[in-house]
Amino acid sequence: MKTISSQIIVGLSLTASVMAAPAPLPPPPSGATPPPPPLLNVSAPLPPPPGAPNPGTPLPRRPSVPLAGISAAQLAEFQDGRAEFIKEERPEGGLGPIFNDVSCVACHDAGGVGGAGRKSVVRFGRVTNGVFDPLVHLGGSLLQKRSISRESLETIPREANVVATRITTPLFGAGLIEAIPDSTILEYAALPKPDGIKGRAAMVTDPVSGEIRVGRFGWKAQHASLLGFSGDAYLNEMGITSRLFPTENAPNGKLAVLARADKYADPEDVVDPGTQRGDIDSAASFMRLLAPLPRGPVTAQVTAGSLVFHQVGCAQCHKAEMVTGTAGPEGTRAQVVALYSDLLLHDMGALGDGIAQPPATMKEMRTAPLWGLRARERYLHDGRATTVDLAIRAHDGEAKVVRDRYRTLSTGQRFALLEFLKSI
Ligand code: HEC
Ligand code: HEC
Repeated sequence: MKTISSQIIVGLSLTASVMAAPAPLPPPPSGATPPPPPLLNVSAPLPPPPGAPNPGTPLPRRPSVPLAGISAAQLAEFQDGRAEFIKEERPEGGLGPIFNDVSCVACHDAGGVGGAGRKSVVRFGRVTNGVFDPLVHLGGSLLQKRSISRESLETIPREANVVATRITTPLFGAGLIEAIPDSTILEYAALPKPDGIKGRAAMVTDPVSGEIRVGRFGWKAQHASLLGFSGDAYLNEMGITSRLFPTENAPNGKLAVLARADKYADPEDVVDPGTQRGDIDSAASFMRLLAPLPRGPVTAQVTAGSLVFHQVGCAQCHKAEMVTGTAGPEGTRAQVVALYSDLLLHDMGALGDGIAQPPATMKEMRTAPLWGLRARERYLHDGRATTVDLAIRAHDGEAKVVRDRYRTLSTGQRFALLEFLKSI
């Protein structure tokens, strides 16, 4: 792997620090404006509980396994996509001017290539009278923490009064989630549910097809397709423009600074005339064909825990299974997907991240799929929970009734439930 000379990359290096603090605010100009409102950090990480596993211990990495039943051509695509996913980008290849990291795997690595991770990204905005402004003209809502030149380094603007971190989500089995028909998600959304649970589909415009689709990827269900998310990640995490996202991000919205720092013509991800594919397509193929983690052993405790999971009401949102359609690529057709999510947005009350990302409101979050939970090191959107138990106790809003029921479980029931969650 190539390394990048440290002189050309400035900014917060997150390689060592896990939950990095947002960049400090610039000092106010002398005497002119009043001091900015205090930062409303709605997602400050909680301190680890006593006896929690050392969050610095890396999980064992597993080799990348493709979906079963794919063709030789798909396997080649998977391997080529994996190489793209781990490739370190350089400024000559389009990295920057502003970016968060140099490869997809730099963040997606817990438990293997494509895993979740404890590295976080930072979003900011300003809430006035309950209305969220993503401060697009100041480079919001996503902060890029690093830059190829000192002048273009982004900071959190003084105007921001909401700052939220989001940890990396896992990609194991993502192609099966992509292959679930919109209609399946919409039908479940329309069913009445007990305990004050609602849930609605995140209708988003897919940048690939231009169609309005049911979003399902990301903490806010902000994307419907893996290619769409791939293009978004190339631009917003690495500063690489593509045919789907051809416009570079201006550092804190300053176009003149961008013009000085950006030396490469857009789109930087060039489509190969032979294959008609670019890097965004390769990375999408890898994610699409990446198998879910296999299920752990089903012991008597696990079976008992599964019953508790359903009885308490967790499965109202963390829906155990959905079935894929038949239109997707080979390996994804007519499969039962044990994702443990309805892929819907729920009002999570105090657990919302305070960032409105249409159509999701400040309090709405996508039900996190629970499969592969044992390959995770941190839980909840900002990684505040170091144990699954803490993650459950932090549920609020539509999940309040179910959470309170969880609190009344006996030690034995709770143990069985947690054993079940470790096995899926
Ligand atoms: C700086 C860290 C970082 C880098 C680099 C990064 N990601 Fe991510 N990724 C994240 C975070 C954080 C999320 C959750 C973001 C959210 O929901 O707002 C995420 C979510 C995703 C998801 C959604 C999965 C789901 O179901 O929620 C996909 C797909 C994805 N990334 C693909 C990529 C690809 C492809 C690349 C390389 C081009 C990449 N990521 C690079 C941090 C990163
Ligand atoms: C009203 C819907 C709802 C109910 C009911 C619900 N959850 Fe969740 N759950 C969510 C949402 C939404 C998230 C994502 C929260 C966030 O953004 O941090 C989540 C996150 C989680 C996580 C963290 C996953 C991760 O990726 O970090 C765990 C573990 C979890 N839920 C377990 C449970 C269990 C066990 C129950 C039953 C006691 C339950 N949930 C009930 C909606 C629900």
